[in-house]
Amino acid sequence: MEIKKAVIPVAGMGTRFLPATKSMPKEMLPVIDKPVIHYVVEEAIASGIDDIIFITGRSKRSIEDYFDDSPELESHLQMKNKDKMLKLVKDISSMVDIHYIRQKEPRGLGDAILTAKKHINEEPFAVLLGDDIIVNEKPCTKQLIDNFRKYGRSTIAVEEVPMEKTGSYGIIKGQALDDSLYSLEDIVEKPSPEDAPSNVGAIGRYVFTPEILDCIKETAVGVGNEIQLTDAIRMLNEKQKVYAYKFTGKRYDTGDKVEYVKAIIDFALNKEDMKEQIKEHITGIDL
Ligand code: UTP
Repeated sequence: MEIKKAVIPVAGMGTRFLPATKSMPKEMLPVIDKPVIHYVVEEAIASGIDDIIFITGRSKRSIEDYFDDSPELESHLQMKNKDKMLKLVKDISSMVDIHYIRQKEPRGLGDAILTAKKHINEEPFAVLLGDDIIVNEKPCTKQLIDNFRKYGRSTIAVEEVPMEKTGSYGIIKGQALDDSLYSLEDIVEKPSPEDAPSNVGAIGRYVFTPEILDCIKETAVGVGNEIQLTDAIRMLNEKQKVYAYKFTGKRYDTGDKVEYVKAIIDFALNKEDMKEQIKEHITGIDL
């Protein structure tokens, strides 16, 4: 079965970016001239997704406005003959079918995904976290979809993380099947380095069979008093094999301040009209 639907949860509080995120979602923070969420939606589309479900919460109106038509801005740009900008703005609102579901309270990532159950309708689907940007010619989500096509089973993207950072990830124990694929044996949410089964962590991309939703339903509140997706994945793996895929690409967790700044620098250095000035600035910094 083709994977055409993606759930993008954006209902978290973004506390690491306070006070900026007091009235704006972290997913709308710009990386140069596009908000983070734009890159995530582009990845979904490039992976064959044509139906996106945003799980939104408080203060997320600006995401809806961003992907909606903006007649006033469009007529202003038209009047000023700013055709290139006009096209850019129009293209955004016609990118893909988008639906919005509200998570009443931020009760965790698992809970956020479960709110999409009715819309998912017993189909396999992708999940992309709205604050992870992943750069690669073949999109990370597409890599997972291809693995799903091959094995017909849920596949989660993983990467090696520094051992001292295991407490920020769902960490897997897996049996390596080849250079990039593991058969999942266990997954633990935010273990301390001493308790971590490895240093391979789940990042913000997943492809699931619809059975994950039944598992989330049965999942009790876990670490941080939240319904953890990690716990539901462990339950799913007991019923139906789950694979972990070491994706190819460069990931920026823009929900983290240092990673966010790194993303801005790298993207600026990749833009023809900016890179020389930015290089000059960086080399001129007195460190
Ligand atoms: P994070 O833990 O990275 O997001 O959740 P957060 O809670 O917003 O960030 P901090 O730690 O307070 O700064 C991972 C993803 O899950 C979503 C978030 O929006 C983010 O994309 N999420 C998390 C929800 O949609 N609902 C929740 O209840 C929790």
